[in-house]
Amino acid sequence: MAEPKLIILDDAQSLYVHAAEEIAHFAGEAICMHAEFTLCLTGGSTPAATYALLAERFRLSVDWKEVQFFWGDERCVPPDDPASNFGMANRTMLSRLDLRPEQIHRIRGEDPPEQAAGAYAEELRASFGIGKGEFPRFDLILVGLGENVHVESLFPGNPALHERERLVVAVEVDAPQRHRVTITPPVLNNSARVMFLVEGKGKAEAVKNALEGPHDPDRFPAQIIDPPNGEVVWLLDRAAASLLSHT
Ligand code: 6PG
Repeated sequence: MAEPKLIILDDAQSLYVHAAEEIAHFAGEAICMHAEFTLCLTGGSTPAATYALLAERFRLSVDWKEVQFFWGDERCVPPDDPASNFGMANRTMLSRLDLRPEQIHRIRGEDPPEQAAGAYAEELRASFGIGKGEFPRFDLILVGLGENVHVESLFPGNPALHERERLVVAVEVDAPQRHRVTITPPVLNNSARVMFLVEGKGKAEAVKNALEGPHDPDRFPAQIIDPPNGEVVWLLDRAAASLLSHT
């Protein structure tokens, strides 16, 4: 398995711009290769500025009608709740692009968690034309990193870190929105590319543990990401990378 690629930017603003450039570049590449770009979005606060840049500066340079939007995880709240991951992406990017409703594949945070997880797994199967036992292959999955090294809604010690069959699971986590729905490790590891977006000093310890800590994904969930046929890219600002010894 390939070593992750580390890209360290001077500050958060440079990271947002670089992330948007990378996403636009991967979109062009995928659309050229197979007429479609399957993009799995992440929640949290870090990607918001990148999404806004995509809708503004990259509005004309990406063929948005060929992009299919998915989510890696969702908090169990209605779509118009300020904590909704769909809501954030919709406000900052999707509503500003001229998209068809069938391009948007959201997790229904307003439904009971188990039901939302089952429905989203079906949505993935239908969109990717896969059957039971198969996993979708996203062109790009964007992920954030929690201070406790969680990724998607795969928190330390959560049994979902050991899921090998289901595409999507409902989880209860130790965070403000306790009930969440998340994609599972085999989906992350079937992706063509996973790109981390991490900024700020508050994440420095988590970045160090994810990349240089002892291999223990139950403690450091981000380490679960290791696609055998895919690339892992870490976009970090200097503050987030400050504790790494090999940069
Ligand atoms: C969520 C997430 C989560 C997030 C990290 C980083 O729904 O909370 O998808 O994994 O990406 O917690 O969040 P920030 O960007 O807000 O630091």
